[in-house]
Amino acid sequence: MDFETRAIHAGQEPDPATGALTTPIYQTSTYAQDAVGEHRGYDYSRVANPTRTALQECLASLEGAAHGVAFSSGLGAATTLMHLVDPGQRVIAVNDVYGGIYRMFSQVYEPKGYRFTWLAADRFNTGGLDDELDDTTRLVWLETPTNPLLNVVDLRAAVEAAHAAGALVVVDNTFATPYLQQPLELGADVVLHSTTKYLGGHSDVVGGFLATNDDALAERLRFLQKSLGAVPGPFDSWLVLRGIKTLGVRMDRHSDNAEKVAEFLQRHKSVKQVLYPGIDGHPGHETAAKQMKRYGGIVSFRVTGGEAQALEICDKAEVFTLGESLGGVESLIEHPGKMTHASVAGTPLEVPADLIRLSVGIETIDDLLADLDRAMA
Ligand SMILES: Cc1ncc(COP(=O)(O)O)c(C=O)c1O
Repeated sequence: MDFETRAIHAGQEPDPATGALTTPIYQTSTYAQDAVGEHRGYDYSRVANPTRTALQECLASLEGAAHGVAFSSGLGAATTLMHLVDPGQRVIAVNDVYGGIYRMFSQVYEPKGYRFTWLAADRFNTGGLDDELDDTTRLVWLETPTNPLLNVVDLRAAVEAAHAAGALVVVDNTFATPYLQQPLELGADVVLHSTTKYLGGHSDVVGGFLATNDDALAERLRFLQKSLGAVPGPFDSWLVLRGIKTLGVRMDRHSDNAEKVAEFLQRHKSVKQVLYPGIDGHPGHETAAKQMKRYGGIVSFRVTGGEAQALEICDKAEVFTLGESLGGVESLIEHPGKMTHASVAGTPLEVPADLIRLSVGIETIDDLLADLDRAMA
């Protein structure tokens, strides 16, 4: 079955007990057992829960993965994945990762002796990864497009280099979603999601996910999921499961609207630079066109009037709500330097002070453009 059919049906049979069409929220911590040591596949909800199973099967199918493991947040998924790395080993990461990942790596893991090398996205595309890889490198951690600068990493090229050196490739596919980009098909070993974003899609749940085709890795991740315990509850699993049913139509509308917003911004006299991989002149455009179906709903831009103007625009926008996060049906505006990426302030990863990030929602495009026009007047 094709993607949008699987988004609605994979992992979800009508409930055998009642015929309920929608997967029930199995709001239970434990399960009655038929005899000592004999149960029906479920013994305790940290280990497994039927609503979570449905989510794991559905989302794994969308990523083209044999295995999916759900978590309580994107960072919960990342923490669990970091248990594949030992102190002394190295992670090479793209340097404009989500600020929370940077904070985790630099303030939690680095002080414990884990080693990190940060590479600009364009260096991954020009042989920079080959120069850095060595036999202590356990993971290559990629995000593409990146948050919030929308840089693009050539996944096939990075995978080839990493695998030649024996490192695993992790791709945070939160921005693109499996509808627009499928990293496992391009050779990546693990896909990571903050399901909080487009997969949930309605700004009402926090969750995370890992997908892989490697059986041994999947077994280890399931063991870590139950042993570390960063699991999503049944209701949160259900919200994500419901969200992904409409992923395809939402991502097409997000992309339609974002393309029009990017065009509008390119023509605006207060805009210094528009960062959107869908634009012809964007440095990552050709690579994005190769590995993505469309370019998604996030548009960042820099203004001519510096930080003061950026803050004023954030303040004046109305339909674009001032807020962190992204990927919901509603449009959001934020100032990465003072909000989502405050944790990289004062580091080499600091984002420009004149930068604004938009999560372009699926409202009527004319209302979105009118709102930006007013806020930027
Ligand atoms: C690209 C990306 N990865 C990971 C995360 C972390 O996910 P969560 O907030 O669900 O822990 C975020 C959150 O903003 C993100 O944008």
